[in-house]
Amino acid sequence: MSTDTSLPVPNSSRFQFSSELEICRILNGMWQVSGGHGYIDPEIAVESMFPYLDSRFTTWDLADHYGPAEDFIGEFRRRLTARRGLAAAADIQAFTKWVPSPGPMDRRLVDETVNKSLRRMDLESLDLLQFHWWDYADERYLEAMSHLEKLRIEGKIRHLGLTNFDTQHLKKIIDEGYGVVSNQVQYSIIDRRPEMQMAQYCEEQGIHLLAYGTLAGGLLSERYLGQPEPGGSALTTASLSKYKHVVDAWGGWELFQELLLTLKGIADRHRVSIADVAIRYILDRPAVAGVIVGVRLGVADHRDDNAKVFDLGLEPEDLDKLETVLSRSRDLYSIIGDCGDEYRR
Ligand SMILES: NC(=O)c1ccc[n+]([C@@H]2O[C@H](COP(=O)([O-])OP(=O)(O)OC[C@H]3O[C@@H](n4cnc5c(N)ncnc54)[C@H](OP(=O)(O)O)[C@@H]3O)[C@@H](O)[C@H]2O)c1
Repeated sequence: MSTDTSLPVPNSSRFQFSSELEICRILNGMWQVSGGHGYIDPEIAVESMFPYLDSRFTTWDLADHYGPAEDFIGEFRRRLTARRGLAAAADIQAFTKWVPSPGPMDRRLVDETVNKSLRRMDLESLDLLQFHWWDYADERYLEAMSHLEKLRIEGKIRHLGLTNFDTQHLKKIIDEGYGVVSNQVQYSIIDRRPEMQMAQYCEEQGIHLLAYGTLAGGLLSERYLGQPEPGGSALTTASLSKYKHVVDAWGGWELFQELLLTLKGIADRHRVSIADVAIRYILDRPAVAGVIVGVRLGVADHRDDNAKVFDLGLEPEDLDKLETVLSRSRDLYSIIGDCGDEYRR
């Protein structure tokens, strides 16, 4: 018997991702179980996935290289089926990724990769496979896409997505005729690069954006409001270190404190948290289907707070206040480039 007291999130949390797939607009991000974010106990982690499902946070984002993440999905599905019957496992959506090392992209490699993910996740068909590519000069990504497309037609993959592709190469893939449904990119109130060209192209093509980094690893929260600039040892997760660099490039700690203070004022007025405002801000942007929020399973649980996002409506006055601070930041598009360019410098 569950002792969880959280209420299910409202219907406004649901999004029709495709004609056959509905998701929760806040996805549970599993990079946080991969190491580098503190110790995760596998048994506690898998058990703690049940309350997420019961609160209707039904959608998981993971990858082949996120440590045990795919195995956790497999074990969770087996336990779900054993306790609640076969149909229960169909209530979750698990979006994985393939991040291949550069090299030949023959059919056998792609088959083996997809079969491995299917085995680990205890599935016959992947809900969404998001493909990452390190080097555009190596055009074998098109070869990989053609094999993935065949696996989609054969039914081993239900939907094909990308991650960290820039607009130019996403367009190239679409022009080649591949049916990509989504691109997962870094997108937050401090990193609005997707607004330069990606979002508009995605809207035109009916491609969904899945956003990550939206809470900057937790920096966009009350925990860092009024705090001195954290140095290396205070940045206790891989995620915090990653996004502290983004804060530095964006405008530095002093301006970030002004942003947190502004977010806090808005949050207080709506009786929500800074994190809720930061998530809602991105959920309301064109082409955004969902925001992926990292979950440290068995260590921290922000479901109750994050659920408030679905009843929150930001007003023009809120956006104006934010814009006043944001207009003083640096232009990350000119510093870093388009979506995903941070992985290709
Ligand atoms: N495609 C890619 O290249 C890529 C790259 C990075 C991430 N991702 C995906 O995106 C997911 C998100 O990861 P991220 O690194 O971007 O982190 P994030 O979602 O920006 O931050 C996650 C952290 O925010 C804190 N948090 C969550 N809700 C909160 C709330 N209501 N109040 C205060 N703090 C809150 C938690 O910190 P505590 O646990 O400390 O409480 C949590 O660990 C990953 O798991 C992964 O699925 C994809």
